[in-house]
Amino acid sequence: MKAPVRHKNSEADLDAAMQIAIGAAESARGFTSPNPAVGAVVLDSSGRIAGVGMTQPPGGPHAEVVALREAGDAARGGTALVTLEPCNHQGRTGPCSQALINAGVVAVYYAVGDPNQEAAGGAETLASAGIEVGAGLREQEVERGPLRAWLHRQRTGRPHVTWKYAATLDGRSAAADGTSRWITGPDARERVHADRAKLDAIVVGTGTVLADNPRLTARMADGSLAAHQPVRVVVGLTEIPVSAHILDDSAPTLLLRTRNVDEVLAALAEYTDVLLEGGPRLAGAFLSAGRIDRIQAYLAPLVLGAGTAAVAEAGVRTIDAALRFRHESVETIGTDLLLSLVPAGVGNLDSPQNP
Ligand SMILES: NC(=O)c1ccc[n+]([C@@H]2O[C@H](COP(=O)([O-])OP(=O)(O)OC[C@H]3O[C@@H](n4cnc5c(N)ncnc54)[C@H](OP(=O)(O)O)[C@@H]3O)[C@@H](O)[C@H]2O)c1
Repeated sequence: MKAPVRHKNSEADLDAAMQIAIGAAESARGFTSPNPAVGAVVLDSSGRIAGVGMTQPPGGPHAEVVALREAGDAARGGTALVTLEPCNHQGRTGPCSQALINAGVVAVYYAVGDPNQEAAGGAETLASAGIEVGAGLREQEVERGPLRAWLHRQRTGRPHVTWKYAATLDGRSAAADGTSRWITGPDARERVHADRAKLDAIVVGTGTVLADNPRLTARMADGSLAAHQPVRVVVGLTEIPVSAHILDDSAPTLLLRTRNVDEVLAALAEYTDVLLEGGPRLAGAFLSAGRIDRIQAYLAPLVLGAGTAAVAEAGVRTIDAALRFRHESVETIGTDLLLSLVPAGVGNLDSPQNP
């Protein structure tokens, strides 16, 4: 084993480069499934950015290879920063650990270790080749960000489900006459569309389709369709009128004739990042089945005093049985608040209800 060669980058330089790699990973979300959205940065031997890469759609090169190609000879003696441990297996694209060794980098830093046994071991291979290896740089940010759903699926075998809803201060998700459009302001709606463009699937119940006739597409500020559209999924036994927007040709749509939450998740097994955007009944069914991995609650500064509660029935009869969550973040988005929550009582991203 060769002695590790020390690189000259400061911690702040490495941290700044990892932030760029995280941004690159975010930009690939929605396009890489079932592969993880990974970002990579290659610094040359004097610490300048020589290449930035992100995972390409399945069959295409991994982030490291894209960044190394851009860097070319400048990678020799340089440093690579990657959001996921470089893979070690000969998949469709060859091991990234070997590509990094061949390119002559002297140091590799990654955020999150690869939990996938088949691909793991990249760090060891790099270290055996005399490359300085560091793990855990901005790990939590990557675990909660671009790799969140993929890591969840690796650990549990199920898609990661985020329940997103908008409610008033008094917890109403629709007015007494059933209308619920525009509870939140334009900034929140823009954010919802940007988030949709990174997802694999959006799920609603037949009730929401019949009440609101939503399109459930990811749209840009000018109304045009985003480059990636998640699959739209409607759950329930009621027929949907053929004229429903959700059946138009702007994105694929799946009709699941069931009321069983685990059947829904089994039907969506090939997907990684799933958003539940349904109404109170489907939300209650997912909550009581323990199949919500994160909540994104948009809280709007208005009061209705009457109307539909955000959750219809979650099987809770007494306060001791309340389903408890803890904040992961609170953001102000225009005039609204966005609370991101995960099931309480766990230090990691997986729900205690979802062993
Ligand atoms: N503010 C928001 O964030 C938001 C978001 C979405 C909807 N909404 C509002 O919510 C209202 C619609 O509420 P909703 O509860 O009817 O919508 P929903 O939850 O989307 O749909 C309810 C339907 O889901 C189906 N379903 C599938 N599995 C189920 C299960 N395990 N348990 C219960 N139902 C299951 C049932 O369809 P079948 O009867 O066909 O089997 C049920 O009637 C509308 O007023 C809409 O505007 C608000």
